[in-house]
Order: sequence, then structure tokens, then C-alpha cells
Amino acid sequence: MTVESVKPATPEAAGNTETIEPVEPPLAGGAVPGLGHGLKLVRDPLAFMARLRDHGEVVRLKLGPKTVYAVTAPALTGALALSPDFKISGPVWESLEGLLGKEGVATANGPTHRRQRRTIQPAFRLDAIPAYGPIMEEEAHALTERWRPGRTIECTSEAFRVAVRIAARCLLRGEFMDERAERLSTDLAVVFRGMYRRMVVPLGPLYRLPIPANREFNRALADLHLLVDEIVAERRASGQKPDDLLTALLEARDDNGDPIGEQEIHDQVVAILTPGSETVASTIMWLLQLLAEHPEHAEKVRAEVESVTGGQPVGFEHVRALRHTNNVVLEALRLRPAVWVLTRRAITDTTLGGYRVPAGADIIYSPYAIQRDPRSYDRHLDFDPDRWLPERAGEVPKYAMSPFSVGNRKCPSDHFSLALLSLVVAAISAKYRFEQVAGSDGSTRVGITLRPYDLLLRPVEW
Ligand code: HEM
Repeated sequence: MTVESVKPATPEAAGNTETIEPVEPPLAGGAVPGLGHGLKLVRDPLAFMARLRDHGEVVRLKLGPKTVYAVTAPALTGALALSPDFKISGPVWESLEGLLGKEGVATANGPTHRRQRRTIQPAFRLDAIPAYGPIMEEEAHALTERWRPGRTIECTSEAFRVAVRIAARCLLRGEFMDERAERLSTDLAVVFRGMYRRMVVPLGPLYRLPIPANREFNRALADLHLLVDEIVAERRASGQKPDDLLTALLEARDDNGDPIGEQEIHDQVVAILTPGSETVASTIMWLLQLLAEHPEHAEKVRAEVESVTGGQPVGFEHVRALRHTNNVVLEALRLRPAVWVLTRRAITDTTLGGYRVPAGADIIYSPYAIQRDPRSYDRHLDFDPDRWLPERAGEVPKYAMSPFSVGNRKCPSDHFSLALLSLVVAAISAKYRFEQVAGSDGSTRVGITLRPYDLLLRPVEW
């Protein structure tokens, strides 16, 4: 199931306003002389983004000397994502490229991006997902086996572990991934924490000082790249070509029909594993928290799993029938989206919703703000999985629910992710409900993704 939902946008709202003379977007209120909106954005980015629509559907923000354009209305975020006048770029992407590599699909544009998407897409197609079922099942059940009733679990490491193991075992098939998934998840946790810090507080040379935090970051980043090199080298040495994403990358050809370079293969593996693990891990953390906060839904999921499976271990083949479980996942993606901010850059003078956007302008929008907007959702802050029942989902404005984005940059992994998230929720809820533990901090940690700071929960058998 995809979730771009539902009501068609009007041509005007979708940015189709050729006949009207475009105007300059209003400046968002609250700018401080010299600093603009920067301080507010750094201090409480979620609240800041959530309030912007009060100032307009496209607004200008001042970040120091720079003007950034924020899009606040669902239809216009869809128009932005679908328009050829914008590309992936901007400060966030530039910092990511510097650390993770320049030749991966997540940062490429134009013909290179199209070629790379053609290479990776078959591994994520709807009809490719059932082949991953046995691995997803094995990992989901292994998670419940690791936990002991009444013994506190550290949700961050548990969620990372299962997310990395599933992505790595499904997409880069091979025995070696079993042991390496551990290393990868430790590296990624350190790298993402450090990357966000470097993006929001760009202290340049200070990050090169040999202090423990920088050394830990550099070690984890180097190990991540080393690990990817090892994975690629071992696959080559094995001479095997299983039907997976890694084989597709190793066999890929560029537009001249030549094999793609080593650097591109490396950067592609990094560009797929890194967003894949962080987003899924964060969403699993939020799901665990929501199950603990809403025992009535945990019980409803348990009952649904039992009735669909007849008490047998839940399997991939059951996922489609787990309607409430799937809606719990969707509602978690709405209310606690891992990807909370996205950016684009205008490649030409253009318009959005009748507003002028000059070539070179950086544009941001927040799926978090869009998906919590009271203009789009009744009782917008309530966790209400039933809002995704077919008879109610039609009330949601188009593009007000796009946690995987839309257009040519849409996450290739929407089907893959929804299937694995539902399976994990079903497997853990069949066995456990969750209790809060003293010392747990479930408040929102804003980084490259959103996730709870340090969620500790106690699984209790039903
Ligand atoms: C892109 C969300 C899981 C790989 C994206 C984008 C979003 C997103 C919103 C679009 C970014 C943009 O428009 O600028 C999510 C969420 C996930 C998830 C919410 C899970 C809960 C995954 C997984 C993988 C993955 C499991 C791979 C194993 C990618 C890649 C891109 C991407 C490679 C870049 C696509 C491109 O630029 O063409 N994701 N993602 N994602 N995602 Fe995901």
C-alpha cells in the first residue's frame, strides 16, 4: 500500500497558475535582525516548521544572509516534488556527500540519477518483496526471542540491529552479513549522530581536533566505508551472483555500456544502506513507544494477529490481511515521521502556487509539519490508526501523507519498508505488550531523522 493519498488537488493548489503574475512569497514573521529565523530553527525546529503555514503557503525564511523558501501546504509539497524545475541539492545534501560519497543515488541528479534508479528499482519492486519474506520473518521472530519477559530492552540498539540486519541480509545477500550487521549498526548510530551535529553547527576545523568525540566519529565513518569495501570485495571473490541488489550494482553499465566505476558501486551501497537503516530503525522505535503508550492498540494488534494466523507464528503471507496492524504502522509514520525535513534547489526561475522562486533558491518542507496540520487532520495529534480505514482515508487532502515522498526521488523502498514494519509489529505484539521503565527518555531527538532520545521498555508476555 502506498500512502500518497487521496483527494485530487485543484490545478491552482498544485502550482499550475501560469495565467497569474507570480508574486514574492511573504517573509515569515519573527525574524531577528542579523540572525533572521536561524535561532528559532535551531532551538525548536519542529515547532518552528509546524507554525509556518500561519504565514503563508510559501514563505521566505532568513538564515543569516541567506533566503530559504519554505513550502507549507500539502498540494504545493506535491507540486515541488513532481516538478522538473527542482533538484536534490542544498547544504544538507552537500554535507552528506562529503561524508558518505558523491556518486550514490540519493544525491545524484539528471541522467545519472535516472540510470541509477533503473539499476536499483527491480530489487524494490512489489513483486520482488515476497522473496525477502523468509528473512524478514526470521529477523522479526529472532527479535522476540532475544528479549526476556520483564527484562528492560534498549530500544535504540534493538531497533537499529533489526533494521540493519533486514536491509543487509535482503539486499546484499550472504552469510557474512550475519556478523557484520552488528558492526554496521554500531557505526551508523555514531555516524548519524556526528553528521547531524556537523550539519547544524558547522564548526569546520574544530571537527578535526583529536578529541574523543571526533575520534569516535572518524573511526565509525572509516569502518563504515571499510565494511562496504569488504562486502563488495568478498562478493566478487566468491564468484557468486545471487539475484540481489549487490549483483545488480556489480553488473550495472553506464550510458556508454561500460561497467560503472568502483567508487560508484561503493557509494551506491552506502547510499542505500544508510538511509535504509536509520529510517526503519527510527520508525521501529516510535512504534515500540506507541504500543507502550496505547495498550488498547497493542491488544488489538495481538488479537488481529491471532485471528489471522490461527495462533501460528506470523509470516510474510499474513501481512496483507493484518489491516489494523498496517494502519498502526501508517499512523506511526504520520505522527512520528522519521524523515521530518526535505530540501530541494530551484534549477531555473520558476513558480510554486503563484509565488516566484528564483533559480538557485533552496527550498525546504517538513513532512512532520504537513502530517500534523490541523487543516488536514481531525484531532491531528491523536494516535488514531482507524483514520486509515478506507471509508475515512479519503478525507485526507492529497499529499498530506507522503512519508516516502513522491515523484522521481520517492523512496524506492516504500513496499519493502511497509512490509517489514508490519511484520515486526505483528511478531512482537503477538508475544509481548510493553511497559515504560524508569529512566527512559522517549522525548523527540531531532537529528537527520526524528527518534526518541533513549527509549527503554519492558516487554511483558500477554
Ligand atoms: C529516499 C523515507 C526506508 C532507501 C527517501 C525519501 C524519503 C524516504 C522521504 C525521499 C527523500 C527526498 O524526497 O528528498 C523513508 C522512510 C523509510 C525509508 C520513511 C522507512 C520507514 C528506506 C529503506 C531503504 C531506503 C529501507 C533502502 C534499503 C532510500 C533511497 C532513497 C530514499 C536509496 C533515495 C532515492 C532517490 O533519491 O532517488 N526515503 N525511507 N529507504 N530512500 Fe527511503
